Amino acid sequence: MNSLFVPPDYFQELPEVFPASTRPLEIDLGCGDGTFITGMAAQHPERDFLGVERMLGRVDKTMRKIERMQLPNARVMRLESAYTVGWLLPSAGVSRLHLLCPDPWPKKGHANRRLVNQSEFLDGLHRILNAEGEFLLKTDDQPYFEDALVSFESRTHDFKRLDWPDDAFFYPTTDFEQDWLNMGRRIHRARWQKIGR
Ligand SMILES: C[S@@+](CC[C@H](N)C(=O)[O-])C[C@H]1O[C@@H](n2cnc3c(N)ncnc32)[C@H](O)[C@@H]1O
Repeated sequence: MNSLFVPPDYFQELPEVFPASTRPLEIDLGCGDGTFITGMAAQHPERDFLGVERMLGRVDKTMRKIERMQLPNARVMRLESAYTVGWLLPSAGVSRLHLLCPDPWPKKGHANRRLVNQSEFLDGLHRILNAEGEFLLKTDDQPYFEDALVSFESRTHDFKRLDWPDDAFFYPTTDFEQDWLNMGRRIHRARWQKIGR
């Protein structure tokens, strides 16, 4: 199977990403060079992983990692995250969505570009997660993290926050996270579970 996933139709919900698979699907939004999804896919052959990334060079690096590690359960798609979640991913088709070290959009006038501040993203997230599906966020950026807490606090009918203790489950450190940790920055993390249908 080609490690690059190209949607058959950009204007319809995807019928499938891994043909005929019954494995749960996890999404890594803004997957960068693919370190996280390839680490996860190697550890969890019983799950499927799709990385979403808009930069061509990073998509190429992710493809090369998937091919070098011979991972049939990992693919990468070159597309924009908000559109992917809002309109493309299949309804109730995703078991976990990871958003790891997203671009912080630090300028005051740009806060509405943060995914967690966009109702299209939050509505889409609820649509694509399956029953009890999860959204996992890590960021070194305090304002981004606070925005996420506020957004999810306003949607307690759709999502409930779950604990995320150290070593709760296998979760590789991402490239950007490692850079921030090396610089002594603190990483915030939070995890929410979908409520309802
Ligand atoms: C700060 S990097 C983090 C990469 C990786 N998640 C990590 O933690 O190492 C953010 C990544 O998200 C990608 N990205 C940012 N906005 C995006 C968007 N709207 N759609 C798709 N990818 C996006 C960037 O190209 C970049 O690779």
